[in-house]
Amino acid sequence: MTPVVRLERDGAVAILTVDRPEKRNALNAAVRAELIAALDALRGDTKVRVLVVTGEGEKAFVAGADIGEFAERTPLEQRAAMTGRRVFDEIAAYPKPVIAMINGFALGGGCELALACDLRIAADTAKLGQPEINLGIIPGGGGTQRLPRVVGTGQAMRLVLTGEIVSAAEALRIGLVDVVHPAAELRERTLEVARSMATRSPVALQMAKSAIRAAAEMPLAAGLAYETELFATCFASDDKREGVAAFLEKRPASFTGR
Ligand code: COA
Repeated sequence: MTPVVRLERDGAVAILTVDRPEKRNALNAAVRAELIAALDALRGDTKVRVLVVTGEGEKAFVAGADIGEFAERTPLEQRAAMTGRRVFDEIAAYPKPVIAMINGFALGGGCELALACDLRIAADTAKLGQPEINLGIIPGGGGTQRLPRVVGTGQAMRLVLTGEIVSAAEALRIGLVDVVHPAAELRERTLEVARSMATRSPVALQMAKSAIRAAAEMPLAAGLAYETELFATCFASDDKREGVAAFLEKRPASFTGR
C-alpha cells in the first residue's frame, strides 16, 4: 500500500507530512496508524529532538476525519475505532516538542491534531474550524476539551456550535494559532523555530513540556509542586551541568540529552 505519512529529516528535526492531498489529507485509519508508527520510531531516536507535523500540498493541513470511513458505522463500531491508542493523546504526551505547521485547511480532526501539538504555526492562507456540527456530530478527537483550554470556553462554544471556519488572522486573534507567516515562508520560518528548539537540552524540553501540559490538568498548588520536582530533576542531567558551565565560560552549550 502507498504510504500516507512521509517522514523527512532536517538535522535534528523530523517532519511528518500527511500525504493524501487528493482527499485534503483527511485522517483515515492508515494515516492514524502511520502517524503513531512514526511517533514510535522517533521516540527513542536521540538524533531527533523536535517534530513538525504538516499536510501535503497548499490546500490542506488535515481536512478532518475521513467522512467516508465513518459514514456507515454503528455506534459500537465507532466506539471501537476510538478506543486504543489515539494520535492526539500520543502527540500531547510525546516526550519531544511537536509543532503543527498549518499549511491550509485544519478542520475537525485536523484542528484537533493541531490542538494536540505544542505550538501552532500557520500560513496566512490557513483556515481552521470544528465543522462537525454541520454533520450532526460533535468533535471527537479532543476538540471539546483541548479547544476551550486553548481559546477559552466562549470561543470554543462559538467554533463548535456554529461550525464557523476562521481565517489564520482570526485564529491568531483568539489564540487558536500562535504565529502566522506568509504561506511562501511557512516552511522555512517553522523550521527555524524547530531547529532553534533542537539546539536546547532535550531533557529540559521534555520537562518543560510536561510541566506546561500539567498546568491544564492540575490545581495550581499541585502544578507548582510538580514544577519544583521537574526543576530539581533537571539538576541530575549532564545537560544542566553543560548549560551552566557554558554560560559561565561564555561559550555556546552543546547538549547531549543525558
Ligand atoms: N473526509 C473525506 N474526504 C474528504 C474530506 C474529509 N474530511 N475532506 C475533503 N475530502 C475529499 C472530498 O470528498 C473530495 O474527494 P473526491 O475528489 O473523491 O470527491 C476531495 O477531498 C477534495 O475535496 P473538495 O471538497 O473538492 O476540495 P475543496 O478544496 O473544494 O474543499 C474543504 C476543501 C476542506 C473545504 C472541503 O473538502 C470540506 O469541507 N471537507 C470536509 C471538512 C469537514 O467537515 N471536516 C470535519 C470532518 S468530521
